Amino acid sequence: MTKNSKQDRVLIFDTTLRDGEQSPGATMNHNEKLEIAELLDEMGVDIIEAGFPIASEGDFKAVSEIAERSKNAVICGLARANYKDIDRCWEAVKYARQPRIHTFIGTSPLHRDITALSQDDMIARIHDTVTRARNLCDNVQWSPMDATRTEEDYLCRTVETAIKAGATTINIPDTVGYTAPRESADLIRMLINKVPGADKIIFATHCHNDLGMATANALAAVEGGARQIECTINGLGERAGNTALEEVVMALRVRNDIMPYSTGVDTTKIMNISRRVAAVSGFAVQHNKAIVGKNAFAHESGIHQDGMLKNAETFEIMRPQDIGLSSSSLPLGKHSGRAALRAKLKDLGYELGDNQLKDVFVRFKELADRKKEVYDEDLIALMTDSTSEAGSEHLKVKFLRVICGTEAPQSADLTLTIDGKDFQTTAQGDGPVDATFNAVKALYPHNVRLQLYQVHAVTEGTDAQATVSVRMEEDGRIVTGQSADTDTVVASAKAYVHALNKLIVRRQKPVFNAQMSTSK
Ligand code: KIV
Ligand code: ZN
Repeated sequence: MTKNSKQDRVLIFDTTLRDGEQSPGATMNHNEKLEIAELLDEMGVDIIEAGFPIASEGDFKAVSEIAERSKNAVICGLARANYKDIDRCWEAVKYARQPRIHTFIGTSPLHRDITALSQDDMIARIHDTVTRARNLCDNVQWSPMDATRTEEDYLCRTVETAIKAGATTINIPDTVGYTAPRESADLIRMLINKVPGADKIIFATHCHNDLGMATANALAAVEGGARQIECTINGLGERAGNTALEEVVMALRVRNDIMPYSTGVDTTKIMNISRRVAAVSGFAVQHNKAIVGKNAFAHESGIHQDGMLKNAETFEIMRPQDIGLSSSSLPLGKHSGRAALRAKLKDLGYELGDNQLKDVFVRFKELADRKKEVYDEDLIALMTDSTSEAGSEHLKVKFLRVICGTEAPQSADLTLTIDGKDFQTTAQGDGPVDATFNAVKALYPHNVRLQLYQVHAVTEGTDAQATVSVRMEEDGRIVTGQSADTDTVVASAKAYVHALNKLIVRRQKPVFNAQMSTSK
């Protein structure tokens, strides 16, 4: 077999914008979705699952616009097993150069119970819905949700039905992250061997990470014969997430000696998209996350540092440059000019137009005045902050002064701009952050449950910027806000308000049940 022949190529199917965005609190706005889709297309992902068109008007618009703008990637939309979903999905993806409809139904006994369909009725439903999709689109993917907990014989029947009805890709989801590597490989191998017509289609693997085995299971499925891996940037996704794109792509590259498969992904774009997804989803990447974590290429111990200086290969199996990390990270300072800032931002993956650079430069100077050395992490936090402000802003923090210290009560004097008008109040609380949040509540009454309040120092030192993340819930809608500032309380106020702005947008979108609709 020659290198890069069909047998060696593994298609990368990214579902950050669908399964990833489905994860509670990871909502992205329209422009953020377009930006991520463009980055995915540019980095060479083969298929982008852009969303769930029937879920809301917003999802539909995002999928259609991503389809219209797509350059190389196949653009896919998700649809449950009913005609309404499938027709709506087609309406959204049909303008793509290469559209795909992805339809699914839960096939395990638990899911059959929920849908109240007998085994035979479900077979008929699969036949009818896949036929419907195939009559609209040449490229149809079908998934038996919870495949890894479906009886093997019945799974074979469902897959055979979908292939006969015209599915061109069969995806085998490990919906609850239950399988293990050997089983994952065996399942795909068994389907390829047993199901008539299996040699005519591509098998895909879609793994969740509940037991921390998603990457291993996906790679094992490839060993078993799967030639499409479904994954997300940073492993974003429901519960413990999905297979991380950066992990499977780098594993196939670094261990090509034992896994001789290639992908079309330009790995030097990994770091940039990882940062953007972390910023727009509000899900920070854990420091020790494989490939894209802050510490993935850091060497603290003396022995490691010594070895690294003598020969980087002693402790590094891949180079930082391979994933687009700049090798030098000299800090900027208040004397650094616009050209230096532009060059550094480009290095970090942000290409700015002149006007945008002008705004960022002003904010950079303000930061450099407060902080002697501005590190890469500071600039990323600054960029995250400026892009998070670009969304639809009903509320904005205009002025904040807090009184805190050992003497109670702590209080916050806050001016909030609400839809263009300024409102001021003073509120007390248990500490300055609590007082600030109370002031926001007094000026803009709302009833949310705060699920997470997290402060993270971007760099070392007492002048470090703090990145604050706030996650809140209202009537089942979960949103995350983020902001950075050298003043932790200011960052907290802005992060809280950022989350509220997202919530205001989300209130226009119904809470959607992705499981099933019962009629065709
Ligand atoms: O995890 C899952 O089963 C899914 C399907 C919709 C493919 O995301
Ligand atoms: Zn999934």
